[in-house]
Amino acid sequence: MGKKVVVTGVPGVGKTTVITGAMEILASEGITYESINFGTFMFELAEKEKLVSNRDEMRKLDRDVQKRLQSGAASGIAARSGNANVIIDTHSSVKTPKGYLAGLPEWVLRELMPDVIVLVETDEDQILLRRLGDESRVRDLEGSRSITEHQQFNRSVSAAYAMYTGCTIKIIRNENYLLDKAVAEMVEVLR
Ligand code: AP5
Repeated sequence: MGKKVVVTGVPGVGKTTVITGAMEILASEGITYESINFGTFMFELAEKEKLVSNRDEMRKLDRDVQKRLQSGAASGIAARSGNANVIIDTHSSVKTPKGYLAGLPEWVLRELMPDVIVLVETDEDQILLRRLGDESRVRDLEGSRSITEHQQFNRSVSAAYAMYTGCTIKIIRNENYLLDKAVAEMVEVLR
């Protein structure tokens, strides 16, 4: 049975960057993982139904619509991952206009059953600057206090995920100028 690793973190913290770095190192050791982006699965479903024109609009959709897309993505990912080693790039919680939406509610966890959930974190001011520097996305304007709250909520809700699945929770800091350290820690989790 392959390893299932769920990687989470607030938008712009650098999840995808850390995953990419870790996969490169592991590939040189002959260890392969497939990286699956949960948001991309949801976006493909949402696009088919003409619900959104970009991925950043999804978190503004009606809560029940988001949950339906989320459920569809979870079963699609479960069907695709089989026995392979898989990284699922997603969110512990999504900040919506009506409050935090759990990224891994029971019906998602049942499909994915991760061995470990990684929380990628860093200081709020660094996240703020990374978001401002990324013109490819439509980021919500948010102050550092609000990002702090989101990171705290992600830790809390992840404890519930660990209770349900028995998975471990690993926190990796991805600080400015220390990407290599974050990548090395991710490699240790994945190896
Ligand atoms: P998704 O596509 O995952 O959006 P996101 O979180 O905004 O992801 P990004 O890829 O933009 O951020 P990242 O943290 O990976 O940062 P990156 O590596 O690019 O999800 C889209 C949507 O899907 C969500 O909004 C939600 O609606 C939906 N969704 C997803 N999962 C869901 C779920 N489970 N349930 C419900 N809805 C769900 O890096 C950002 C920048 O930082 C880059 O410029 C990078 O170069 C820089 N950087 C990274 N590391 C460092 C470093 N150490 N030092 C300096 N710069 C760095």
